[in-house]
Amino acid sequence: MSEKIAVVGLGYVGLPVALAFARKNEGVIGFDIDHTRVRELREGHDRTHEVEDGDLASSTISFTADEADLRDATVYVVAVPTPIDESRRPDLRALKGASELVSRVLGKGDLVVYESTVFPGATRDVCLPILAEGSGLAEADFELGYSPERINPGDKVHRLETIVKVVSGSTPAALERVASLYDTIVDAGVHRAATLETAEAAKVIENTQRDLNIALMNELALIFDKLDIRTADVLAAAGTKWNFLPFTPGLVGGHCIGVDPYYLTAKAESLGYDPQVILAGRRINDSMGERIAQRCVKLLVGSGLFEKGAKVAVMGLTFKENVPDLRNSRVPDIIDELRSFGLEVLVHDPLADADEAKHEYGVELVQREAIEGVDAMILAVPHEAYRSDLGGLQSSVRDGGVLLDVKSMMSPQDADSRLTYWSL
Ligand SMILES: NC(=O)c1ccc[n+]([C@@H]2O[C@H](COP(=O)([O-])OP(=O)(O)OC[C@H]3O[C@@H](n4cnc5c(N)ncnc54)[C@H](O)[C@@H]3O)[C@@H](O)[C@H]2O)c1
Repeated sequence: MSEKIAVVGLGYVGLPVALAFARKNEGVIGFDIDHTRVRELREGHDRTHEVEDGDLASSTISFTADEADLRDATVYVVAVPTPIDESRRPDLRALKGASELVSRVLGKGDLVVYESTVFPGATRDVCLPILAEGSGLAEADFELGYSPERINPGDKVHRLETIVKVVSGSTPAALERVASLYDTIVDAGVHRAATLETAEAAKVIENTQRDLNIALMNELALIFDKLDIRTADVLAAAGTKWNFLPFTPGLVGGHCIGVDPYYLTAKAESLGYDPQVILAGRRINDSMGERIAQRCVKLLVGSGLFEKGAKVAVMGLTFKENVPDLRNSRVPDIIDELRSFGLEVLVHDPLADADEAKHEYGVELVQREAIEGVDAMILAVPHEAYRSDLGGLQSSVRDGGVLLDVKSMMSPQDADSRLTYWSL
């Protein structure tokens, strides 16, 4: 059966999915409620840098912000954001909004596949009733699928095509329909999960496991710091054992690893189970920015440079290296804590959008040239641009100043002897 595919939500996840479908299928529609995003995509520009502008320009996909253009679709793939609110509870507004939108164009026999990360049960318990009510169709008149996204923004190796895709369906027939849909675009193949809930749970634990492993490394780093042992050296030694997992300490930001565990814990709490291990890990990871800033203050005091207005350069603001994505970055925690001590903080990032930095965090990004003779520098995000200029960066710190290397980008031997070097 030839499907007419519409992708709803064209962000980091939806756009590559839409493009992959458009390579194998005619008439793929890419829908987003953000008119600016749709205009940019029509003009061949992807501000997330996930797809090459050339690939976008040569694609047959039609981009639209007009709901009416979705009417003829037979398959709807939903990839809208699923963040948390200020109380760290799942914020399902976009998911519900997109479901309402799809319900208005949904026809008998259509398939709706969700790719957004959710808690187990969300597709069946939250989305299905919205689709049925808005469309006026019986639940048995359309099919549901859930296929979690596993892409890693900025990673050109682990891509949609090269990562096994977990697929699931509301019925055996729906499962086969979802499987054959993704089989055409994912070279690595598909894994058929037993139920929608199994696939939802699989996705959410992938990131929960990662979050907890990093939390363990962060706790170890805090202990080793007190012992004056370099964590990177300990991990290099322990990592020679065949079954020691290669995680490293650091800030956990972004809208996956630091967010998804809350989807699982909220669901668990709603069932009367009080998750302890998962939330303990979250607390440690969320505290790291503040702790790094406090370490910086201690080092400045130790170097005799601590005074009101002392200058600290924070290098990198995005949630991880080599991406422009600022969402849920934990670097602002470092900045806020430093400012609370009366320090002057200069923030630089070669990839972040200056307007977005100002809008999201009230941070004015400075040019690289503005960072000269600072009292301390925190290498917060290991962007390639920083890795390739470690000498230049160090020369921008004053004699006797402090250098904090959060991700252990350099070895202590390479640190400038004029400076006090510290790594997490
Ligand atoms: N970014 C990742 O690395 C990644 C990886 C795996 C899973 N996920 C999950 O995939 C989902 C999407 O994430 P993303 O990073 O692509 O988000 P995103 O913010 O980059 O993009 C989402 C897009 O959806 C649009 N949108 C919002 N509400 C809409 C609506 N009601 N109808 C239509 N469009 C709407 C937004 O305008 C935006 O362009 C989330 O659940 C996320 O947790 C993300």
